[in-house]
Amino acid sequence: MTVATPASKNKAKKIEVKDIMALPLTKADESWFNKEFVRGFMSVYKDKTFIITEDDKPKILGPTNIKEKEKWLHGTAKEEFNDYVLTGKENYKALKLKYKGKLVGAIMYRLLDETKKTIYLAQLFIAPSFQGQGIATHLVDKILPKLHPDYKRYEVLTRHQNDVGMLFYNNLEFTIGDTSLVEKYGYNPLYYIGFYNVR
Ligand SMILES: CC(C)(COP(=O)(O)OP(=O)(O)OC[C@H]1O[C@@H](n2cnc3c(N)ncnc32)[C@H](O)[C@@H]1OP(=O)(O)O)[C@@H](O)C(=O)NCCC(=O)NCCS
Repeated sequence: MTVATPASKNKAKKIEVKDIMALPLTKADESWFNKEFVRGFMSVYKDKTFIITEDDKPKILGPTNIKEKEKWLHGTAKEEFNDYVLTGKENYKALKLKYKGKLVGAIMYRLLDETKKTIYLAQLFIAPSFQGQGIATHLVDKILPKLHPDYKRYEVLTRHQNDVGMLFYNNLEFTIGDTSLVEKYGYNPLYYIGFYNVR
């Protein structure tokens, strides 16, 4: 198995992460978000084989199912944008990341006021040409803690096939949780793995 490599991965880092700005995603960002969400996730999923649910039935998508994967990701982008931006549910947050005026990625997350205040990272992607530059690390390690200093626990789910996502969270010293962490967010532990980190 080869791990997906972003175009920029083997090049010298060319971005000053301190110049990354995080701003609220708004309705005006919708078409950019839909397009880049698909491109961002396809950078990892295009050559993977995994199961999605379509019309309440499981469906296997492999490396040849590019169109189906794109359609599934388009649907997910639309639903998430609706929940995190358009309907503005309480404690649902969505940020875009800008570098020198260019949109380079986005994150959607929830603030959970549990005994230990928790941030659930629901969706995170970096545009493929900006991957491998430390942007997502800077976001999770520096920007979010600064925005929400009281929230010390972070939780996230990744598909078992998302090797890049798992390397990313391992690199940030997240730990694998048990299956209840996956079920907490309504997902199937056969398809997803939960990670958490307490700062
Ligand atoms: C996962 C993702 C958000 C990481 O964003 P990024 O800004 O490229 O990540 P960083 O540059 O901060 O990488 C930090 C570390 O993660 C790991 N990593 C990230 N991308 C990797 C890759 N393609 N291959 C191997 N390791 C990788 C490395 O350990 C890296 O540290 P290093 O650069 O010192 O080797 C990005 O790859 C992405 O958008 N993927 C598609 C969407 C997705 O999978 N989101 C997460 C799902 S929960």
